[in-house]
Amino acid sequence: MAKKIVAGNWKMNKNLQEGLELANGLNDALAADKPNCEVIICTPFIHLAKVSELVNHDNIKVGAENCADKVSGAFTGEVSAEMVKSTGCEYVILGHSERREYYHETPEILKEKVDLALANGLKILFCIGESLAEREANKQNEVVKAELEGSVFHLTAEQFANVVIAYEPIWAIGTGKTATADQAEEIHAYIRSVVAEKYGKAVADNTSILYGGSCKASNAPELFAKPDIDGGLIGGASLKVADFKGIIDAWKK
Ligand code: PGA
Repeated sequence: MAKKIVAGNWKMNKNLQEGLELANGLNDALAADKPNCEVIICTPFIHLAKVSELVNHDNIKVGAENCADKVSGAFTGEVSAEMVKSTGCEYVILGHSERREYYHETPEILKEKVDLALANGLKILFCIGESLAEREANKQNEVVKAELEGSVFHLTAEQFANVVIAYEPIWAIGTGKTATADQAEEIHAYIRSVVAEKYGKAVADNTSILYGGSCKASNAPELFAKPDIDGGLIGGASLKVADFKGIIDAWKK
């Protein structure tokens, strides 16, 4: 059985003080009412070390939103996988559509990041998903398969066990437009079949596949009820304790 996960992606939001307040609030809320799933908060680099110190890791895991494609050295402004790991966090998001689009992260660059993250003992939330034009041309299956092949299917099955897949249709991110639960389930089942073809059914059944894109407390229960949806990667609704907790609680319904 795949692990059930609700992960937050703060993106470029919250200064240090605001971020600590949010992490603290969530920590208190989950201490009072234990989650039924793994909860991860992925924060900007500046929050990682303090948030990691502050939260109870039994209830909340911490992740970064990116890491460098180089080991170390003269790469001004970059943060390596080793540095991320040294903050005490466990996860890193890679392949987010915003990184692919605005920062031109290619499948090859992502492959380097994936290898460095794993070499440094980080688990990966690997994002895939099609654009609106690709969905309209009915190319979503092709797109997600190519994204997996391009950056994670070179891994051994043992390495792949550290990869969580996040399916995020680009047309649903931050737009308020969610894929319907049936639409999401259809492609999640396809993604699991592609993983099974590559690594076998046992690995595929153990792979967590999260849905992302305007997921909120009101639609999470219907999405999470689908057999191939193992949780969510949450942007906007991870920025307030009550909103995020509402999604976490969808696993109690
Ligand atoms: P959203 O973002 O929940 O704000 O749509 C999801 C994501 O980009 O991870």
